[in-house]
Amino acid sequence: MQIELTKASYSYQADSPFAVEALHDIDLTIDANELVAIIGHSGSGKSTLAQLLAGLILPTAGSVLIDGAKPSKGGVFRQVGLVFQYPEQQLFAETIFEEVAFGAKNYGASEQELAGIVESALTEVDLQPQQFMERSPFSLSGGQKRRVAIASILAINPQIMILDEPTAGLDQRGRRWIIDLVKRLWQQQGKTIIWISHNMEEVADIAQRIVVLSAGKKILDGDPHQVFAAEQQLFTSGLDLPQPAQLVRRLRQRGIPLSAQAITAQEAYQEIAAWLGGGGDV
Ligand SMILES: Nc1ncnc2c1ncn2[C@@H]1O[C@H](COP(=O)(O)OP(=O)(O)OP(=O)(O)O)[C@@H](O)[C@H]1O
Ligand SMILES: [Mg+2]
Repeated sequence: MQIELTKASYSYQADSPFAVEALHDIDLTIDANELVAIIGHSGSGKSTLAQLLAGLILPTAGSVLIDGAKPSKGGVFRQVGLVFQYPEQQLFAETIFEEVAFGAKNYGASEQELAGIVESALTEVDLQPQQFMERSPFSLSGGQKRRVAIASILAINPQIMILDEPTAGLDQRGRRWIIDLVKRLWQQQGKTIIWISHNMEEVADIAQRIVVLSAGKKILDGDPHQVFAAEQQLFTSGLDLPQPAQLVRRLRQRGIPLSAQAITAQEAYQEIAAWLGGGGDV
């Protein structure tokens, strides 16, 4: 399953004097089982792109094809699930059971099937079903709300999952947990993952491919090493290199002969260890 954007643009309040063009002429194809990160400064258009990719909004120019078909107004593609940037944008039901069951119910799951679907989705996000099912989603902590939002998408079992800043505001443990979950969905269940993030270390660690937005345009698209090699373009778009890459860069400026390739902590460690003569074994 593929999503294909051709010269896609999106304006909020199009045809009004208040029109804001949030995305401009985006060409982007995402293939089955890719793990793609989308990065960009605040306001660069990431969340708008997430909604276009999910077929929740339609382009004001150009085209979006999901699995070869045009999304229709009001139509939702079952095969693409979007976990919103702010769980509050997504949560609405009185109980967590209803919340998680909603999408699956809409797609025709029977009452009997729903019990099993909700239980396994909640278990997948580490929320004890018996303990949480009857509670209100609004009584939860931020991290738990996000887990419920993820569970409600898992319950639909879409082939493509888009996660809009899923680790924002989480501590190291919460962050690690989401990364592990996403890797499982990608590697073991073969899902396509589209991951929006502000965190350069995170995307350097997990993505196979990075798409960079700047002021509504796609300015870079490639594997993480290619993208983080384009320092100047990133800097002028208000983005930094991942910290390990910054460290290696500073050491290079002091004349230490490291290659500029390292972008993850592990790669930086190996470079520095090799220079120290320990061959990675310090
Ligand atoms: N509902 C809206 N009405 C009008 N303009 C909007 C609306 N939502 C977003 N915009 C504008 O569209 C542009 C892109 O916004 P978007 O939310 O897609 O950016 P983003 O990259 O997700 O930002 P952030 O990193 O802060 O989440 C911004 O200029 C924003 O102000
Ligand atoms: Mg956003």
